[in-house]
Amino acid sequence: MFLSYLCARETMKYENEISKRRTFAIISHPDAGKTTLTEKFLLFGGAIQTAGAVKSNKIKKHATSDFMEIERQRGISVATSVMTFEYRGVLINLLDTRGHKDFAEDTYRTLTAVDSVVLVIDGVKGVEEQTRKLMEVCRMRDTPVIVFVNKLDRDGKDPFDLLDEIEKELKILLHPLSWPINSGKDFKGVYSLYDKSLLLFNANQKATAEDSVQIDNLDDPLLNNLVGEKDADQLRDDASLIDGVYGNFDNEAYLSGIKAPVFFGSAINNFGVKELLDTFIRISPEPRSRDTTARHVDVQEDKFSGFIFKIHANLDPKHRDRIAFLRVCSGKFERNKYFHHVRLDRDVRFSNPYSFLARDKDVIETAYPGDVVGLFDTGNFKIGDQFEVIQYRLLQEYGASVQFNSLPFYKACWLTAEDKSKLEEFTRFKTANTVIDKDGHVVYLAQSDWFLNTEIANNPGIQFHFSSEIHK
Ligand code: G4P
Repeated sequence: MFLSYLCARETMKYENEISKRRTFAIISHPDAGKTTLTEKFLLFGGAIQTAGAVKSNKIKKHATSDFMEIERQRGISVATSVMTFEYRGVLINLLDTRGHKDFAEDTYRTLTAVDSVVLVIDGVKGVEEQTRKLMEVCRMRDTPVIVFVNKLDRDGKDPFDLLDEIEKELKILLHPLSWPINSGKDFKGVYSLYDKSLLLFNANQKATAEDSVQIDNLDDPLLNNLVGEKDADQLRDDASLIDGVYGNFDNEAYLSGIKAPVFFGSAINNFGVKELLDTFIRISPEPRSRDTTARHVDVQEDKFSGFIFKIHANLDPKHRDRIAFLRVCSGKFERNKYFHHVRLDRDVRFSNPYSFLARDKDVIETAYPGDVVGLFDTGNFKIGDQFEVIQYRLLQEYGASVQFNSLPFYKACWLTAEDKSKLEEFTRFKTANTVIDKDGHVVYLAQSDWFLNTEIANNPGIQFHFSSEIHK
């Protein structure tokens, strides 16, 4: 979905800049540990200095964004929503998906601007409502996902059962890259199947990779000394089962959004977090090419392009202007240079674009693919959607002014059926509730959950899909 799309006339190559950037979001059902994990990442990245738990649920009660409050409490001058930090030579742009209870439009838009996500799952509660919705969006876009199973310090589900549940409920294949030794009060640590190292848990000490013990061969008697014979044997059994079921890790399957690597840990105890971050920077995708409403934009192309995915009211209530968040897709963004604004069809330039480097809100001179730039906006930008692009093009290209009105439907479902006549019959009887999407596929529009469930029950020969990806 390309919104305010900008382009310039310049030819240069930026491969080195692209390869050192990672732009991602942490997503979760509320309370699974997203805020805590984000804070730990920021600590590792040196973006914030103070260790210790953020009173995150108190933050949510007051703030529109979790990080506004962290910012206020800690005196970090960031415009929240985007946190940029450097870790081991990699420039990481972490986009905040707010802590709303409901799946928000804002979250959806933010997910259009990332190249991958880390999905946090509460190891006690398993898959929850919002996890499903978020995953649906990721699946639609083939967004690479890393799963972090959190709260291992509490008595949780059996890890194999949990993996089964995640695979079934979220319709994604998994591949564990670490494995826990028990949970709750018996939690002893995690074994990294990727690095073949054992990280031992001690609730009073914050273990990190430096404390891990290399155990290349699980038959090593050292394992028995470290975790006891019973747990060592259990780990051996689990690891051989995992090996048999999952085989070797396939990074391509992860990058294409088919398989999600899984890590276990405890964010609040900073346990398993550094290992997650270390693996993340090794396997996660660089800024990727994008499809837009106009054309395919190759990340390597020299021409600058970007889109606005979010507009924020200024944090300073005395100022009416707003901050537009521009995700750079290709080429080089430069301060004070004229770029073409597609919707306005005129050239615009920005004298005070700023970056979101977490310690400072700096005016920047340049930005590259994957970066998010904050632009002061006095009304030039709009968060468009497809409808807006269509409206704009109809007016510009055909002189046809159109107005959109919304229909009173609660959910759209894409329909498929092995027996095509069943689908034809359904659409014949439900003309008021069926439409054809832009690709020619049948879509059922339900007035309410009750209507939807009734139709599903009454039409066993028809499959109801909650996203159009079924037709991909
Ligand atoms: P969210 O952003 O996904 O909504 O979750 P958040 O990080 O705010 O965490 C929700 C609650 O879960 C917080 O507790 C947090 O401390 C706790 N939590 C996060 N990670 C872990 C973990 O690894 N183990 C355990 N046991 N708890 C964890 P709270 O009581 O709601 O707030 P607080 O007063 O502790 O900050």
